[in-house]
Amino acid sequence: MHTITRPFLACGQQLLTLLFVLACSAGALAAEPAFKGPYDDETTQQRDARMAWWREARFGLFIHWGIYAVPAGTHQGKQIENIGEWIMHYGRIPVAEYQQYAEQFNPVNYDPEAWVLMAKNAGMKYIVITAKHHDGFALFDSAASDWNIVKATPYGKDVLKPLAEAAQKHGIKLGFYYSQAQDWIHPGGSTWEGRWDPAQEGSMDDYLRDIAVPQVRELFTNYGEISILWWDTPIDMTPERAALFDGLVDLQPGIIVNNRLLYGVDGDLRTPEQHIPATGLDYDWEACQTMNTTWGYKSYDDDWKSSTQLIRNLVDVASKGGNYLLNVGPMANGEIPPASIERLEAVGDWMRVNAASIYGTSASPFVRLPWGRATKKAYDNATELYLHVFDWPADGLLRVVGLRSEVSGAYFLADFQQQVPIRKSSTGVILELPEQALDPVDTVIVLKIKGELTVDRILPKQDEQGVLQLTMNDVNIHNPGYGGTLELIQEDDAAPYLDGWTDYRSRADWRVRIDQPGTFDVYAELVAEDAAGLLLIAGDGEQPITLQASDESAGFETQRIGRISLAPGETEIKLHPQESLWNPIKLRSLRLEPVAAPSD
Ligand code: GLC
Repeated sequence: MHTITRPFLACGQQLLTLLFVLACSAGALAAEPAFKGPYDDETTQQRDARMAWWREARFGLFIHWGIYAVPAGTHQGKQIENIGEWIMHYGRIPVAEYQQYAEQFNPVNYDPEAWVLMAKNAGMKYIVITAKHHDGFALFDSAASDWNIVKATPYGKDVLKPLAEAAQKHGIKLGFYYSQAQDWIHPGGSTWEGRWDPAQEGSMDDYLRDIAVPQVRELFTNYGEISILWWDTPIDMTPERAALFDGLVDLQPGIIVNNRLLYGVDGDLRTPEQHIPATGLDYDWEACQTMNTTWGYKSYDDDWKSSTQLIRNLVDVASKGGNYLLNVGPMANGEIPPASIERLEAVGDWMRVNAASIYGTSASPFVRLPWGRATKKAYDNATELYLHVFDWPADGLLRVVGLRSEVSGAYFLADFQQQVPIRKSSTGVILELPEQALDPVDTVIVLKIKGELTVDRILPKQDEQGVLQLTMNDVNIHNPGYGGTLELIQEDDAAPYLDGWTDYRSRADWRVRIDQPGTFDVYAELVAEDAAGLLLIAGDGEQPITLQASDESAGFETQRIGRISLAPGETEIKLHPQESLWNPIKLRSLRLEPVAAPSD
């Protein structure tokens, strides 16, 4: 068993996290794992059965609701920067002062059934609501603390009970978000970035034992079937502290748990936050995202994503094999901001026509499609391929490059009587589309595939000068089953980059085609806080390389990192961190430039 000893607790948060992840990683290699999750002994079959509804669902509603909806981003006349549910923290609001906001938390317009129907009509299959967020406030009646909606607000009623009933009635699964390790109200609940009020002083172990564990037990006991427990911010959690929650999941057989109970522990699903990884990943994951820029209600945040963007995000996530958890931040009067409702209605309109291309689908077989995305459903000896056309081709010809299978039929999902003429080409198949998109947001075309689905991987290849440019659009990410947070970050229109490379066992590789073999200088576009050592593996050769520390404030910089030889044909280029030399980096591209042959 690895324990975090006192001196580590004094270190900076990042270092602590890193040390912790490394401690967990080392533990994973030893006989005894550092932490035993509730499902560690499960077989793959058992796991598949338990995850089946969630994988089928693909789309859920996140609800961030609490006392922060009262100040709604403004404290004492001052707009407090950052996400709304963090106002107490960023405004350094003393405990007693923050608690006064509860007197104005009176959600008289709360209509749980309307919330559930809103989610259902949007095509969502589950809801995850903040039973308790970092402000320690329970949206439910609790014997463990009076800082709850029944005892501390004029409303005086548990809001989770009727939500659970409405969800049950309408066949929507319900999950609870519970902030186990960050609680700014209860003594001992907050150790991160210091405390700003003596009332917060206390022992975390006492807080966990007296507040968090009993409250999770209440949530698991009093609300019928709970399908997900969504832990958050495992700051200062240790395997011993996580173990305090042991056994509770038995109260909710089959419950799904996320990866935020303890750093380095995957849980059932990983949770990329506010971004969508750029490739399909070989584990269950759920991207959570806000419609504007805050989770909890902020009266002046009007930075709304368009409904087009939200629909395409849902499709993008599904095409990469993940789930999409889209957030609303209700107001203190119990109403959901109209801008959120409108957007969910627009998503619902699209889903009513196209849900078959989302539910129960799996990741796209294509490496990349320049005009949109693909999802698929595989059956015995047949596949339904859903082509999601975001950018309608100007010449009316949709090129599905790489598709080699026999296509027995093609039609629009919006109108199955409207067949789409299709022909083979030397590179794949070509669909003849009408002039206008049926739906400019995303028109879905169904391709019926007989027999095996065969798709050529369109691999990165050299340009005429022999230069091979490798972007993160083509990278394969391998995270170890235990720990590992390496993922792709896509910010607006910029080229995506890799981040979260905290675990030395996380690896990145590219499958490439080499037509002009030879020797190449390798350049990397990266940000490195400290020098980092790894192996550069190309074909059969491997060499240790060191990435130099870079000037972080200058952003990405290009470094020459080594020289490799490549034979003709398909091959792999791999980056494998070296355990003792590894430090996290961000990586945006690799560039292989041919070394001029000596001219004698
Ligand atoms: C973060 C934030 C939190 C939000 C959550 C959603 O951890 O602390 O406010 O609830 O992510 O993913």
